[in-house]
Amino acid sequence: MMATVKETKEFLESKLNGFRPDVALIVGSGLNGLAAALDKPLKIPYDEVPNFPKVSVAGHTGDIVFGELEGKKLMMLCGRVHLYEGRSVAEVVYPVHVIDSLGVKVLVVTNAAGGINPQFNPGDLMLIEDHINHLAVNPLVGGINGENTVRFLDMTAAYSTRLREKMENAAEKLQIPLRRGVYLATLGPNYETPAEVKAFAWHGADAIGMSTVPEVILARYHNIEVLGVSCITNLAAGIALRRLSHEEVLEVGKAAEGKLVKLLGGFLAAL
Ligand code: HPA
Repeated sequence: MMATVKETKEFLESKLNGFRPDVALIVGSGLNGLAAALDKPLKIPYDEVPNFPKVSVAGHTGDIVFGELEGKKLMMLCGRVHLYEGRSVAEVVYPVHVIDSLGVKVLVVTNAAGGINPQFNPGDLMLIEDHINHLAVNPLVGGINGENTVRFLDMTAAYSTRLREKMENAAEKLQIPLRRGVYLATLGPNYETPAEVKAFAWHGADAIGMSTVPEVILARYHNIEVLGVSCITNLAAGIALRRLSHEEVLEVGKAAEGKLVKLLGGFLAAL
């Protein structure tokens, strides 16, 4: 594993001419347009990057985009692979090893999620305060690189209190409403049943999605500070009396994108 991460890192560094990203972003379904906001972008398709997992879901393009926003040097990963595609958890978190190898100390993750909290509406943005791992897999199982030294990682404040404060301040300054809550990750690929959503509400989940949690666990292992934002693209099954569709999730994500770009800009300016 370290050998393959090293190869990926060296390939990327050979393209970067000394550019050293400070902040990495992993962005989910329908939120890829964030990359268009970057100054002096350098776009590298995942296909060209040695050992990088290739994406295969509608709404994802699969590009690493390096560039600047609000004076910060960014590395954006547009598109991720998911466990529900039958990919291994090692593949899902591979980009986080690469982010770490490049010396990045702050990771921002965004995703699309269904709203469980009855106060949420489609199009809302939610600052992730904490998560519930309902995936039944974990990137630390069996150790990293054959070294089983990663058990019992502390997950208190996995979503950095410092970064959350900065994001809350940015939202207030920009007058962009920002919800906060707990993100629960489920395997998918089907959306939940109303009974599952009810159970997850009792567990304390405010939003539900199919990503993010493995990457955040591995980022914490690497001691990378994490900020997470969910775009509430729909009300979770049974919360609203209608069926869910992936097209709708993508559409609402697209519609909320401008707000999210503004918010991230404000956050980065405050970093
Ligand atoms: N459930 C799970 N994942 C999701 C949802 C949902 O309702 N919406 C967007 N991603």
